[in-house]
Amino acid sequence: MTRSSVQRATSAGYRAGIHKVFDRQIDPPVFFFSLFGMRILSGIQSSGVLHVGNYFGMMKPAIELQDRGEAYYFIADYHSMTTIFDADLRRKYTLDAALDFLACGLDPEKAVFFRQSDVPEVTELTWMLATVTPVGLLERCHSYKDKTTKGISANHGLFTYPVLMASDILIYDSNVVPVGRDQKQHVEVTRDIAMKFNKAYGEVFVIPEVRIREDTAVVPGTDGQKMSKSYGNAIDIFSDEKPTRKKIMGMVMDSRTPEEPKPDAEKNTAMQLLKLVGPEEVYAETLERLRAGGLGYGDLKKTLFAHHWEYFEEARQRRLELAANLDFVESVLQKGAACARTKAKTVLDRARKACGLD
Ligand code: ADP
Ligand code: TRP
Repeated sequence: MTRSSVQRATSAGYRAGIHKVFDRQIDPPVFFFSLFGMRILSGIQSSGVLHVGNYFGMMKPAIELQDRGEAYYFIADYHSMTTIFDADLRRKYTLDAALDFLACGLDPEKAVFFRQSDVPEVTELTWMLATVTPVGLLERCHSYKDKTTKGISANHGLFTYPVLMASDILIYDSNVVPVGRDQKQHVEVTRDIAMKFNKAYGEVFVIPEVRIREDTAVVPGTDGQKMSKSYGNAIDIFSDEKPTRKKIMGMVMDSRTPEEPKPDAEKNTAMQLLKLVGPEEVYAETLERLRAGGLGYGDLKKTLFAHHWEYFEEARQRRLELAANLDFVESVLQKGAACARTKAKTVLDRARKACGLD
């Protein structure tokens, strides 16, 4: 793919057309054409160990889109500074996220893959965007409210997090942003900021669209709430066998005996996870046996563990190979950064000129 040769239409009419496509249910072939020639962008914070919710909510959809358009994926290490205050830990999480993403199938021949902080232009654009961002817009962000409610100190970076995210998206003229449901509001904020900037200074930014897969928009954690690095309910993609088994076997279920019929079995958290990692027929058979009565939760959890382990087997092997070849991983990130930076400079330059900073 010649990245620079891909033409992106930025006219208001064209964008309006895309919007229509994304507002309705899209058949796969229509969706395929709708993404052709588009820039797909997403990022993941290096603020902890990546889990099954990150995988199904964001990584898998992003990986599946890597050959449907011009994909830009990055590790948001600047964003991790809002909650992590240990340099070595950040280095570790950033490298781990790179290994995880590559092991799970991100193909650096198809996608531009880089570290956010290797494109420092994004921080300059953040400032420019901050000046058109109403404080009220940031005050309404759920993610900020959730984090502060949980006791994370409300530093200015945490508050302004969505402006940096807007800059990440706008600086690459991104059209489509695949994320889990919890990031939807941040993409909406990005759209608002872009429109405000365009209104003040002319048509500078492409207005991006969020892309959320309904079936995996919110993957539940071991306690039934949204799986999250910070809730202690995560099943990590790559942790060792023993802790993974322990985590799954420790899932708390209701008190019904194995013999009792469980007509609501599809709502069970372990079943929701089995649906993601197990073959369809295993899921269907387990569902039937739970509904009929005669299958206990212990056996359900064993089945879930076995399929979880098998599902990520190939990725685990690839990760070991990558971990033994860190020079390759570093070269992928640097090549990706060089490519991303070229694009970022063009858009930043356009923004600077538009607002009289040339
Ligand atoms: P966490 O909540 O664990 O800190 P992040 O906020 O770093 O996760 O999310 C990284 C990406 O993974 C985002 O696109 C987010 O929407 C997605 N994601 C995180 N948790 C889930 C989940 N439980 N279900 C679906 N997607 C998720
Ligand atoms: N906020 C995202 C997360 O919590 C990471 C992120 C940063 C991002 N910039 C982005 C996602 C731009 C999509 C687009 O993981």
